[in-house]
Amino acid sequence: MPSILVTGGAGFVGSHVCEALHAAGFLPVVLDDLSSGFQDFVQWGPFVQGRIGDRDLVRQICKTHRPVACLHFAGLIELGRSVTHPDLFYDTNVAESIALIDTLRSGGVSSVVFSSTAAVYRAQLTPLVETAALGPESPYGRTKWMIEQYLSDLGHAYGMRSIALRYFNAAGGHPTVDIGESHYPETHLIPALLDFAVGRRAAFTVFGTDYPTPDGTCIRDYVHVTDLAAAHVMAIRHLLGGGGSAVFNVGTGLGHSVKEVVEAAQFVVGKSLAVHYGDRRAGDAPMRVANCDAIRSEWSWRPRRSDLHTLIADAWRWRGRANPILDR
Ligand SMILES: NC(=O)c1ccc[n+]([C@@H]2O[C@H](COP(=O)([O-])OP(=O)(O)OC[C@H]3O[C@@H](n4cnc5c(N)ncnc54)[C@H](O)[C@@H]3O)[C@@H](O)[C@H]2O)c1
Repeated sequence: MPSILVTGGAGFVGSHVCEALHAAGFLPVVLDDLSSGFQDFVQWGPFVQGRIGDRDLVRQICKTHRPVACLHFAGLIELGRSVTHPDLFYDTNVAESIALIDTLRSGGVSSVVFSSTAAVYRAQLTPLVETAALGPESPYGRTKWMIEQYLSDLGHAYGMRSIALRYFNAAGGHPTVDIGESHYPETHLIPALLDFAVGRRAAFTVFGTDYPTPDGTCIRDYVHVTDLAAAHVMAIRHLLGGGGSAVFNVGTGLGHSVKEVVEAAQFVVGKSLAVHYGDRRAGDAPMRVANCDAIRSEWSWRPRRSDLHTLIADAWRWRGRANPILDR
C-alpha cells in the first residue's frame, strides 16, 4: 500500500479524504497538531502528532513512512480571524507550509495536493473559472494564494508537481462513518444552522436580505465533503501517474441562497426554524459559484452527494444528536 502524508488529516476535510484514500488502496499517514482536529477522526493509518513546520519531524516521517505524495490540508481556516490575527495566519499557512514543502522536497516527495479556496478570487457575480482575476480580500485568501504561487514556482524551478484544489463551500458529512465538521467557532452556514436546530446554539441570524440576488440573501456553491474527497483521490492518481501541475475549482456550479438552505434544513430536520433575519455582515460577497468544467473534463469528476438535501441530511446524521465532540 503506497503511503500518502496527509497534513491536517484529523480535521473535517482531511479525515474524509483519509477514508477515501484507504478505500482506494493507499495508506494515509496523518500529521496533525490537533489544534482543531480530533484523534478519533484518524482511523485509516498511522498518526503523528505535531506541527507541519517542524522540519525534524517531517524529515523523520519521510524516513519512516516513505510517503509517495502529500495532501496538505493543515492550516488556519477562519476568514474573520485572519483579519484580526493575520500574523498567525501568515505564520501557519505560509511560513509553516513553506517549511513543510521544502522538507518534503529534500526528503524525495515532489508531488503535493494543496487545499486552496474560492477566497483567492476577487469577488464577482458570475460563475468563477480558474482563469478569473485573483485578488483575495482577506489575509486567509492571500495566504492560500501565496502557497499556490510557491508551488507553481517550485514546479518551474525544480520540477515539483502540484494540484491546487480551490474548494467552494465544503459541507455535509460521511454517510456511514462517525466523522464530521467541527470548527470553533463554527462560522459555516450549514453546521451552524443544524446546531441551532438541535439546540446547541440559542439563536441563528441570516446576515443580509438585500443583496442583488433573487431572494436577497447570499448565494454559495456547496460541495459535499465526500465528493471533495473523491477529487483528492483523482488528484493523487493523476500525480502518481506522471500528470502535470494544475489548478481546479471544486464546487457544483450550482448556487443556493441562504434562504434555500434554511428551507432545505427545515425539511431535513422536520421542523420549522425560527431564524432571525439581520443586517449584512462585512466582507460577504453576494454570490460565489464555481465553474467546474475543467475538473469535469480532465478527470470526469462529478458531484454525487452534493444536492442540498443529501448534503444536509449527511451533516445532520452526525450533528443532530448528542455528540461528544460538539458537546464538549
Ligand atoms: N471547510 C471548507 O469549507 C474549506 C473551504 C476552502 C478551503 N478549505 C481548506 O481546507 C483545509 C481543511 O479545512 P477543514 O475545514 O478540514 O479545517 P479543519 O480545521 O477541520 O482541519 C484543519 C486541520 O489542520 C490541523 N492543523 C492546523 N494547523 C496545524 C499545524 N500547524 N500543524 C499541524 N496540523 C495543523 C488542525 O488540527 C485540523 O485537524 C484547510 O486548509 C482550509 O483552508 C476548507
